[in-house]
Amino acid sequence: SKRLSLTRLRRMKADGEPIVALTAYDYSFARAVDAAGIDLVLVGDSLGMVVQGHAGTMPVTVAEMAYHTRCVARGLSRAYLMVDLPFLSDYDERSALESAAVLIKEGGADMVKVEATAEQAPIVAALSRAGVPVCAHFGLRPQRVGQLGGYRVQGRGDDGAAQLCEDARALEAAGADMLLVECVSAKAARAVQAQCQTPLIGIGAGSDCDGQILVLQDMLGITPGQPPSFSHDFMADAGTIPGALSAYAEAVRARRFPGPEHGFD
Ligand code: KIV
Ligand code: NA
Repeated sequence: SKRLSLTRLRRMKADGEPIVALTAYDYSFARAVDAAGIDLVLVGDSLGMVVQGHAGTMPVTVAEMAYHTRCVARGLSRAYLMVDLPFLSDYDERSALESAAVLIKEGGADMVKVEATAEQAPIVAALSRAGVPVCAHFGLRPQRVGQLGGYRVQGRGDDGAAQLCEDARALEAAGADMLLVECVSAKAARAVQAQCQTPLIGIGAGSDCDGQILVLQDMLGITPGQPPSFSHDFMADAGTIPGALSAYAEAVRARRFPGPEHGFD
């Protein structure tokens, strides 16, 4: 079958058809994820943790992202391929463009994702001006946990929700083609979804986003230690990897996942 386009993902938003997204880091899993009908695959810098064994995403390099992206790209025949710009690879417009060039030309990605709020809108704008399809990741930004001092739910209360809506507005105005919110109050995510023009993918952001994403290892139940509360182990019931991937896709499309227990007030 044919590779999904950004146009198709936009149409899914317009039609209220949930976008099913998942991370992958290698060829074999890319094949399995693609075969399960996942619409969007992310080579996330979460590979710093689940592949490399680091405590966070900050050590990951562009060269490492490019290597994993090449491996994943060879395994996809249908899914849209997004890749993260890792920590400090996007500290200014020039470095963001150089990093994106590597990940798209050498890696084979369709789109890059940058962790950005309104403050980083100029980075998004530079990528967009250069013709790079770009997703802006806001709410909880794992590359900022050093500064933040830990993982904390974002967008709580009226002020928090208003701030996320303002970020979304600024990022879309800068040219973001997609938005991703992580670990935010479900109410705030709903407010962003109601105003945004581009597909909004959520993780730990309640059920009212245009799509959902999880980290592959989390949903297979093989993440060492405590998995995030907003994830779900689809392997526990499915018993096989293809079964778990299909069950996840089905649950998102039927709006059975995420449930209230996976979200935050
Ligand atoms: O790196 C990653 O896996 C991500 C997802 C959690 C959205 O950015
Ligand atoms: Na990431």
